[in-house]
Formats: sequence, C-alpha cells, structure tokens
Amino acid sequence: MTGQDAHATILALFRSAGDGFVSGAQISRALGVSRTAIWKKIEQLRLLGYAIEAVPSKGYRLQESPDLLLAAEVQAELGTERIGREVIYYAETDSTNLRAHELGKAGAEEGTVVLADRQTAGRGRLGRHWCSPGGVNLYASIVVRPPVAPRYASQMTFLSAAAVAQTVSETGGLTATVKWPNDVLVEGRKIAGLLNELDAETERIHYLVLGIGVNLNMQAGQFPDDLRYPATSLLLETGRRVSRLDFVRCLLRHMDRLYSLYLAQGFQPVLAAWQQYFHLVGCMVEVDCQNRRVVGCVQGLDSDGALLLELADGGRERVLAGDVRPL
Ligand code: BTN
Repeated sequence: MTGQDAHATILALFRSAGDGFVSGAQISRALGVSRTAIWKKIEQLRLLGYAIEAVPSKGYRLQESPDLLLAAEVQAELGTERIGREVIYYAETDSTNLRAHELGKAGAEEGTVVLADRQTAGRGRLGRHWCSPGGVNLYASIVVRPPVAPRYASQMTFLSAAAVAQTVSETGGLTATVKWPNDVLVEGRKIAGLLNELDAETERIHYLVLGIGVNLNMQAGQFPDDLRYPATSLLLETGRRVSRLDFVRCLLRHMDRLYSLYLAQGFQPVLAAWQQYFHLVGCMVEVDCQNRRVVGCVQGLDSDGALLLELADGGRERVLAGDVRPL
C-alpha cells in the first residue's frame, strides 16, 4: 500500500467512526501493518496538518482537517459518474495540465482529475503565466475523451466555464459572469481562467485536458503586478475564506452533470447553461482575434458557440476565437 493509500484508509476510518474514535487495532487490520507502523502514519498525517488526538484505551480521533485536496478527501462520497473517478494530488508540480497530458497519453480513464496545491510553472492562455501560489487556490486539470470530432473540442470550454461560474455563484453567494468564451468574472474582475488543450488526429479526439484555475483565498498582495486585466478572488469578494475541498467537490459534481448532459443530448443544454452567465448581449465589445480586431455589438451566440456581432456598417460577423473586451 502506498503512503497516500494508507492515509486515505485512515481518513476513511475516521469518517465512518460513530463516536469519532478509531482503535489502533482497527487501523492495524485495515492497513495490514503493526501497531508501531500505525504511529508513523498518524505522525505523517499530523505533519500534513491533520490534528489527531490519541487517547489511551480508546484510540485516535480526528479533531481538525487542513484544507488539502488529498484524493481520498476529494473522492469521499463524491457520487459522480465520470469526473473524479480517479483523482491525483500533488503538493507541488510544474503544471497540472502537463501531468494530465502525460496521463492522457498513457491511456488514463476519462474523468481523471489532477490537482495541485501549488504550481511552479502554471500555464495560462496564449503562452502566458498563471500565478499559482500554494495553500490558497484551485489548480485542476481533467482528462476527458468526448466522442466527437476535434472541431467540436471548443464546446468543452463552455462546459468548464458554466460549471465554474455555477460553483463560484453558489459558494460565494454572488453573481458570476462568463466572458466569451472562457474567463469567469465577478463584478468585471477575473476570478477564474480556463486552459483547454487538445490531443487529436484529423477526425478523432484522443483526449482533451480541461485546465481550470480559480482564485479562492488569494490576498490582494499575492497577485502579480503585471496583470493584463483586473483580477479578484472569492476571499476578496466575500471577505470569507472558502474551503478548497468543498469548492472542488462542488465543481466536479457540476462538471459531471454537464458532461453527462453533453454525452446524452449534445451541446445545446451546455450552451444554455453557459448563457445564464453571459451578460454581454447588446453590449459593444472589441474582440482581439490575434491578427485583427473586430468592434461590434453582441447579438448573441450561434448554435456552435461562435460570437455573433453586428458591425458599425450594419454587417454581421461570426467570431470563432479571440479575447473579448467590453467597450
Ligand atoms: C488563462 O490564461 O486564463 C487560463 C489559466 C488556466 C490556469 C489553469 S491552473 C490549472 C491548469 N494548469 C495550468 O498550468 N493551467 C491551468
């Protein structure tokens, strides 16, 4: 049994203990190790931040858990069908998207989730850096294998954005909005970013990595000075710390529900969920499409998620990708 599996087993015993106490004998049976070896495992959990009381003749009791995203904690009674069937947690990694790519290539099952406490080389869109300090935020990457042609891969961006907006709204009790196609904002400030990356051949998706970064408990002083946009966190918006564990569990459930809808009914219900958070219809925007800029009034979205703009000369434009800035 690996160290992480042993920790998971002990934490599961604590969760199911009626009076909170778990005897050394129970743990020793569950792990198949000696009573002395248990003591070592308990010490390791304490070092991770779990406050565990030891009472002679009664056993061990969990008094307080740190806000860590250990796989066993995330998966306990998660109840999802696909998303989160496998969860892998890193205290530190360069980028969860890179880890998810490795897993995707190696044949990881659909719904595998990679989480990290901190990233040393967090990746943003267009080759930008994603600020990823430890202990405060959510950094997640999910491997999916939707049975659609690669040209539909961008539909998954709407799915992630809708799930994140819904989780931010519910957790913080505030109004989240989506900026086409993929940032999530609160009061016009960016609270979450999505980086979806595709591995495919001409007609078939091998896998997609859905990268999600959400600023949860980040303080104002932790944001980089050179941000290109106003940014915020749930803590800054609500004045309250958010449990990262509760947040990620809620997010995975929303992702799972939307993904099941997508597989059963296609893109329309996902787009409808996303549109509930899209508040730019009727607004003038500028879209930076890499090699050109388009200015127009947002008419809505096409059935494939393209942005429909009315231009100053009365013409119409369908935009498939770009950075939107409200004017
Ligand atoms: C953006 O530029 O808005 C997208 C940011 C995406 C950041 C997330 S954090 C988890 C995952 N791992 C990464 O390296 N990037 C994504």
